[in-house]
Amino acid sequence: MAYNKVQNATNRTFERTMTYDMYTDPKVLEKERELIFDKTWHLVGHVSQVEKAGQFFTAEVMNEPIIIMRGTDEVLRAFYNVCPHRATKLEKNEFGKKKILQCMYHGWTFKTDGKLNKAPNFRGEEEACVKDACLRSVRMEVLESLIFVNLDDDAKPLSESYGDFFDRLSKFEFLSDLKRTHRKTRIFKSNWKAFIDNYLECDHCHVAHPSFVDTLDMDDYQIITCENYSFQGSIVKPDKQYGEVDLNESEMQGGSFFWLWPNLMLTFYPGPGNMASIEMIPIDHETTMAVYTYYFREDSLDKISQEEKDLMTFAEQVRSEDIELVELEQIGFRSRAFNRGRFSQSEQAIVQFHEMVLEALDE
Ligand code: FES
Ligand SMILES: [Fe+2]
Repeated sequence: MAYNKVQNATNRTFERTMTYDMYTDPKVLEKERELIFDKTWHLVGHVSQVEKAGQFFTAEVMNEPIIIMRGTDEVLRAFYNVCPHRATKLEKNEFGKKKILQCMYHGWTFKTDGKLNKAPNFRGEEEACVKDACLRSVRMEVLESLIFVNLDDDAKPLSESYGDFFDRLSKFEFLSDLKRTHRKTRIFKSNWKAFIDNYLECDHCHVAHPSFVDTLDMDDYQIITCENYSFQGSIVKPDKQYGEVDLNESEMQGGSFFWLWPNLMLTFYPGPGNMASIEMIPIDHETTMAVYTYYFREDSLDKISQEEKDLMTFAEQVRSEDIELVELEQIGFRSRAFNRGRFSQSEQAIVQFHEMVLEALDE
């Protein structure tokens, strides 16, 4: 078995790890929501979804309804998708194109810049007192065609939050050609952090992911910890193919797997230009929703090539193998047998993650 090399590109050493009760305690999740998720950047989409004036899509970020919209003035904005009259969720559709947004409760309408257009149940003098009622903005930044929002108005800018991550991302030249192709979700019975732990090491790959270790050169596999993110990956073995296509001739001749604090993963698989995001959204302390979004050069699944389909099958196989593992792990987290893991040298990216959680929770 080849042992993965972990390089530390930060100037810090990581030593502390979490105890298992942090994976089974609803109070810990409450703190994580407040001290982690409400303050960090969340990926909500890709600029290809809102290229034209009036185009929008809606999202949910930590239970907050959000709408991202390109105004009729071409400016991209993010708002809470909540009507300022009496809080009704404003836009129900997942995506669309509109010049005016209308609330279905009392018919208030809003311009694409979030300003109130009409409040039909307020007339005469009353009208003056609601004229400033507008959609509340959300912090948003776009980098490398990816749209992120942050619920904390005072958060550090996205561009300063992840070290040199976006420089690294810009090396994938196909990124701006990609479109959001497909999104799927899966609920599983495990704490969200268990999946992050699982993702941050590949010692389990030899045991759990036969197709993965058969495709990637595990002797060359590296894990690198950086500022608020880490990444890992390797090149493909010689003569590896999806169907008829030699992966060594592909646009991506290796796998690159990024993790961004706290719960976002971006994966690039061998094959044609591609990206997938994985977000681990906590539902409760022992239930998580995995959101998988695929990006290829086409905007729907029925247009993708056989090679792209093979890539998806490959990625999905690896993912379901992982979900099974973390569900088994959650059973052990609840046991009285042990309350702390042991971490090898090649599991050091997990230790970085643990240290960050402990720090954020002020533990
Ligand atoms: S709640 Fe939206 S118009 Fe009344
Ligand atoms: Fe895995």
